[in-house]
Amino acid sequence: MYLWTKLFHVLFVIAWMACVFYLPRILVNLAEAGAEPAVRDRLALMGRRLYRFGHVMFGIALLLGLTLWMHFDRSGGWLHAKLLLVVMLLVHFVFTGRWIKRAAGGASLPSPTALRWFNEIPLVLAIPVLWLVYFKPF
Ligand code: HEM
Repeated sequence: MYLWTKLFHVLFVIAWMACVFYLPRILVNLAEAGAEPAVRDRLALMGRRLYRFGHVMFGIALLLGLTLWMHFDRSGGWLHAKLLLVVMLLVHFVFTGRWIKRAAGGASLPSPTALRWFNEIPLVLAIPVLWLVYFKPF
């Protein structure tokens, strides 16, 4: 059961991370859409749906992660450091989702270049998460 739980944890993590990586791309496209209302509306709809889907995927990944931790007793300093980085990923995700909602309502966005840098943050956070999980340095 431990390995099955881990398998599904990783599966739902992949689904959530797909949203974490793609949501900022929608934001870049919104910033580039200019004043075209049809394009903006379609992008905002895609963004809102992806954001909602991401919350469900994160919720299931979290429950399975907590099961690995509590039930299968997989813990250590690495897990606490990992959780801190996961919280940062979640903050980035929520921030992006709220930004999309505000942009859909007509609020202005930073330049596409600035948003492309913002887009790289999840990658910078995901690498140490995987390093902690696989190397368990402490
Ligand atoms: C949401 C809160 C999370 C909790 C409580 C949690 C907890 C855990 C625990 C306890 C394990 C078992 C480690 C082992 O048995 O060696 C695990 C495995 C794993 N976690 Fe998470 N995790 C969470 C989120 C994430 C996220 C966001 C990612 C990726 C960005 C991730 C990636 C992984 C991977 C790749 C493994 C499998 C490692 C292996 O193949 O042995 N987890 N997680």
